[in-house]
This record gives sequence, C-alpha cells and structure tokens, in this order.
Amino acid sequence: MRIADDQVAVITGGASGIGYGLAEALAARGVRLVISDVREEGLAEAHASLTSTGADVTAVVADVSDEASVRALAARALTAYGRVDLVCNNAGVVSPAAPLWEQSAQTWELMIGVKVLGVVHGVRAFAPLLIERGTGHFLNTASSGGLAPLPDRTPYTTTMHAVVGLTETLDEELKRVAPALGATVLCPGLVDTPLGRNSAALGVIRLPPGAPASMRSLATSHGGILSPREVAQAALDAVEAGRIHVAPGRGVAERAQARVRALLSDLGETS
Ligand SMILES: NC(=O)c1ccc[n+]([C@@H]2O[C@H](COP(=O)([O-])OP(=O)(O)OC[C@H]3O[C@@H](n4cnc5c(N)ncnc54)[C@H](O)[C@@H]3O)[C@@H](O)[C@H]2O)c1
Repeated sequence: MRIADDQVAVITGGASGIGYGLAEALAARGVRLVISDVREEGLAEAHASLTSTGADVTAVVADVSDEASVRALAARALTAYGRVDLVCNNAGVVSPAAPLWEQSAQTWELMIGVKVLGVVHGVRAFAPLLIERGTGHFLNTASSGGLAPLPDRTPYTTTMHAVVGLTETLDEELKRVAPALGATVLCPGLVDTPLGRNSAALGVIRLPPGAPASMRSLATSHGGILSPREVAQAALDAVEAGRIHVAPGRGVAERAQARVRALLSDLGETS
C-alpha cells in the first residue's frame, strides 16, 4: 500500500517506543493519526508532543486485550476521520525472564491476552472498515523472538510466533477479498524503548531497584540496538513494498535463516 497524506492510521501502544516511532514517521508524511494506549498519562504526553509538531492526532485510551475497548477505538477512529487505511497492532509487554517450567499460568494468560488476542481484536474491529473500502493494510508488531527461539521468554516467544503465523494467514485471507488489502508482520531485534519499564508499570514484570530505564543495557549482549524511528522506517518501507515480513536488526535475518535451515534439514531427514 502506498502511504499518502490523505490517509488515516491507527496505532495501538502508540504512547511509547516503536508505536510512537511509527506515529512520528507517519505524521511526517502527513498521515492523520489515532494513537491509543492503556497508559492514560503516557498517551496524553505522546499526544501533546505529536500535536506540537503540527500532526493531526486523536488519542484514545484502550486496552487491546479487551474486545469491547478495541471496538470502541474503531468507532472513535471512524467518527474522528471517517476512514482508516493502516492499522498498527503494536501494543505489547514483555514476560518475566525464566525457563518455561517456571513461567506462571497468569503470565501466559496475560501475554496471550495482550499479544495474541490484542491483535485478533484489532483485526476483527478494523477489517470490516478496510474491506468495505477495498483497500488498507495491517501492520502487526511481533519480534525477532517470533522467528527463532528466545530462551527464558517462552510466553513472549510463543505469542510472537503466533503473531507471525496469524499475519501470514491474514494476508492471504485479505488478498482473497481484494488485492489492495494486505498485512505485514514486524519482527525487529532489540529496539531502544522503555518496554521493561512500561511492562513493570503495568504489573507484568518486576524490575530490580536501579534497573536501567531502556533496553539499551542489553545492546552489547544482543549485538546492537535500533532506534524506534529506524524500525518505523523499515516497517513502512515493507508496507509500501507489500512485503509480509520485515525483520530489522543486526543478526535477526541470520537467526531466522538458521531456524529455517534446521527445520528444512529435519524435514528432509524424515521425508
Ligand atoms: N523493544 C524491543 O526490543 C522490541 C523488540 C521486538 C519487538 N518488540 C515489540 O514491540 C511492541 C512495542 O514495544 P516497545 O518496545 O515499543 O515497548 P513500549 O513499552 O515502549 O511500548 C509498548 C506500549 O504498549 C502499551 N501497552 C501495553 N499493554 C497494552 C494493552 N493491554 N493495551 C494497550 N496498550 C498496551 C504500553 O503502555 C506501551 O506504551 C511490543 O509488542 C514488543 O513486544 C519490542
């Protein structure tokens, strides 16, 4: 889908990090925005900051894990601008670090609620609007953890793999309806955002006192870190190119290729 200045984009998790980077990048191209987040204060700050640059932005508090809340978001977007072109299902949290057998059922329910059902609710609420116009695109944020294993984060990795599979299938289903509909899944490596701090504020993880505010502290062990704006640019380029996957970040493609090679080799062994 070509991104143009008469369009409207909806971004969940838009108060911070990658969502905010997408908002900045889209606003710079004249796209009108509906940014949404469950953290009311953070959303108000993001709204003020985007508006101060001249962007046309509507802010709506919504919890993506709650279907009624996401339906209300879609209704608000339609009332505000009369159309929706791009839906960025981006909101997310990170799960605590522990092996699978120590991850609680509560963590699993929460991660599935936000990361899997959050995207499902977004697609169910907005797809009818896109289908009615015969054009539009979903950009679903997963992670490099959705393309290859990520030890000690199984609730995160599992839900991110789900978002990859969901988006690949969704793209086929949308294309069956109209060729100008589509979906892209964003699978970045490490991004410089306050994901840990926000996840702690939402009660999903506990941070030790004095823990760094951003993901930057992990940069060395993960081989580098991207800015939200770099990720947003890569994602929008992929949307415009009609690509289903985009995986920015050093080493991400190599890790995904290694997984696929291992899979193909195992399949070859058993065929
Ligand atoms: N930061 C990274 O290294 C990285 C890498 C790959 C993928 N991701 C994914 O990118 C997405 C965005 O994360 P980020 O790194 O920008 O973190 P972030 O914390 O800066 O942004 C996530 C936003 O989602 C919001 N949110 C959380 N739960 C919500 C809910 N139930 N309803 C509505 N909003 C909710 C948070 O309040 C926050 O503002 C997440 O899905 C994350 O898993 C992040």
